[in-house]
Order: sequence, then structure tokens, then C-alpha cells
Amino acid sequence: MTAPEHLIRIAGGDVCFPCAPEDTVLRAAQRAGLGFPYECNVGSCGNCKFELAEGEVQMQWAQAPGWTEKDQQRKRFLGCQSRPLGDCTVKLRLDDRYAARHRPQRVAAVLESRRPITHDISEFRFVLDRPQVFEPGQYALAYLPGVEGARAYSMSNTAGGGRLWEFHVRQVPGGRGSQALFDRVHPGDRVGIDGPYGMAWLRRDAPRDILCLAGGSGLAPMISIARGAMAEPRLAQRHLHFLYGGRTAADICGEDMLRELPGWGERLSYHAAISLVSDGCAPAWSGSVGYLHEIARQRFGEQLTQMEIYFAGPPVMATAVQRMLIEAKVPIEQVHFDQFY
Ligand SMILES: Cc1cc2nc3c(=O)[nH]c(=O)nc-3n(C[C@H](O)[C@H](O)[C@H](O)COP(=O)(O)OP(=O)(O)OC[C@H]3O[C@@H](n4cnc5c(N)ncnc54)[C@H](O)[C@@H]3O)c2cc1C
Ligand code: FES
Repeated sequence: MTAPEHLIRIAGGDVCFPCAPEDTVLRAAQRAGLGFPYECNVGSCGNCKFELAEGEVQMQWAQAPGWTEKDQQRKRFLGCQSRPLGDCTVKLRLDDRYAARHRPQRVAAVLESRRPITHDISEFRFVLDRPQVFEPGQYALAYLPGVEGARAYSMSNTAGGGRLWEFHVRQVPGGRGSQALFDRVHPGDRVGIDGPYGMAWLRRDAPRDILCLAGGSGLAPMISIARGAMAEPRLAQRHLHFLYGGRTAADICGEDMLRELPGWGERLSYHAAISLVSDGCAPAWSGSVGYLHEIARQRFGEQLTQMEIYFAGPPVMATAVQRMLIEAKVPIEQVHFDQFY
């Protein structure tokens, strides 16, 4: 027998939604089509906080960096980490911008194949038990064997028929999730996949040229955006500039995937830069050297304000890009990213 669902009510109105005991308040709200604010889904950004007015919840990950001592004193919880222990009433402001474009569902998925992309990034292709559509640029949560909590990974393909979801994952030294995926998940094995999530999806109606900035493991969502944009009739007159940044020449990748797309060399271009001059171990490099935000500013200058800009990568890169775009006075509505943690 499955445990009964709990009812979560939003204080001050008639809105309520069911939440399975093993689900989290945020994800259940997203499955119900409600605009429950969030970003990372993994306990770090703090954007999914709510105040508990009635009932009881349990934090799945009590050490989540986004949950402070002050929050605990004020009965504030992270929506992405809290499970209801019964019916609850929560206080927060819903915002339609966060309502799911495709309601997420958790399904089983089989690893079909994997292949290396660089020395530390590999592509993992999963086939879902049930079709599920997503927008280019979105991410999923992966439940991996022996790993507590979910890990967020962005899809690198476009949804197509909806059963094949492709990811580019960087093997993080000492990282429990990425290590489990590289060492313990083999073709034919099943994992849990929950999605899609994320706000940095391709704006198909935006009448502007596109700039994609990808650093390291930020490759996947930017490749997905490029694949989606090049196939989108409404963007057929638009140019897409793809900038990729790595530490050394050994990290540089992605160009081969873009070369396969229609528009390559005409309205789709790729430029890579490294941030460290070779230490002697990495292959020689004769291309650009510098940080991605500097390269973008140098190459595009005032044009940035006319572009639709997507970016993904490690937190230091994302912060530097954000700062540069603010200084360049790019309207915030034209900038799209989901912070990696
Ligand atoms: C929106 C988003 C998209 C991302 N896309 C990609 C991608 O396409 N490719 C890629 O390589 N990486 C991506 N990442 C980073 C990825 O999710 C992991 O942070 C990274 O793989 C390191 O995880 P790890 O388990 O190896 O390291 P660890 O240090 O073991 O774990 C770090 C991550 O796991 C979470 N975490 C740790 N312990 C728990 C717990 N008990 N319960 C719940 N959560 C926990 C942390 O918040 C942190 O996100 C993305 C992150 C986000 C937020
Ligand atoms: S902490 Fe919950 S969405 Fe980021």
C-alpha cells in the first residue's frame, strides 16, 4: 500500500496541492503547475524558502548551505529539501514566472551509452521509461546509487520524442554524485530522473541574436540551447555566437557538436578561450587566453545590449559574467542562467 498524500495549503488563499510523503514541497508544487520560486533544487541558493504556518516538515538535508540558523529560528524551510509529515500550511508568494513549462515527473531511466568528451567530462545518454518533454537549457535531478540527495544535471540534447535525455557530466574529484555516475552506473543500469526544471530555457520568441557562454561543465545546457535555436524556424534569421572557456587546452570541447548543426559557419560560430597558459602537461594552445566574461566584453562590446544571453558554468565564472553584463547595461530580461552549485 502506498502512503497517502499530504495536502499543502498556501496561506491566505484557496490554493492547495498534494504532496507525496517522499516528495519535496517545491517539487510537488511544480508538478501541480504552481509558480513556487526556486533555482538550484539542491539546497544551495535559498530561493525556495517558505515559512511554515501549520503542520510539520522534515528537512532531507539538514546541512543544506541555503538553510541558515536564522531560518530555523523563524520556522523557514527550503522547499526543495523539505518533506511534509502531514497536512501543512505554508507562507510564500507564488510567482507565475516559475510555473513549469512542462510539469516535471520522476521516472526510471536506463543508461544507454556513455562516451568521453574531454579528460574529465563524459556524455551520458539515458532512455526514460516514459516520454517527457523539456525545453532546451533545462535540467533534471538524478538519483544515483548510494548517493544521498539528488544531483542536478542539464540536458545537452533537445527533447525530440521525449525519451532520450543526454547529459554532459564533469567528474569532480571527491564528488559523491559525479563519482557514482562515472564508477557505478554502467550501460543497462537504471537510475531515477526527475525533471525538467530550470528557468534558463531557450526564448524562441526573442527577436535578437544569441550569445551562449559556457565554462567547463556548463557545456550541456548551452549545446542544448544551440541545438534548439538552430532548429527553430522563428530564430532562422538570428546568429548564435558560442563562447567556450576552459582552464587549459585539454578542457576545450563542444565545437564538433556545433559543426553538425545547420547554420554552422553562416549564422553559428564557436570561439574557445583558456584561462591558464599551459603548464607543460596540457596540449599547446595558440587561441585566445583570458576569462570568458572578458572575452565576451572584448568581442561584443555595446552589441551585448542587443543580444539574448545564456550562460552556464562554475559559480566564479557565472558571478563574473553576471557582473560584466550589469556593467554593460544588458537588460535583465535578456539574460538567462541557472546557477550551478
Ligand atoms: C542547475 C544545475 C545544473 C547543473 N548542471 C550540470 C551539468 O550539466 N554537468 C555537470 O557536470 N554538473 C552540473 N551541475 C553541478 C552538479 O549538480 C554537481 O554539483 C556536481 O556534479 C558535483 O556533485 P558531486 O556529487 O560530484 O559533488 P558533491 O560535493 O558530493 O555534491 C555537491 C552537490 O550536491 C548537493 N548535495 C550534497 N550533499 C547533498 C545531500 N545530502 N542532499 C542533497 N544534495 C546534496 C550540493 O548542493 C551540491 O549541488 C549542475 C548544478 C546545478 C545546480
Ligand atoms: S535551495 Fe532550494 S531551490 Fe535552491
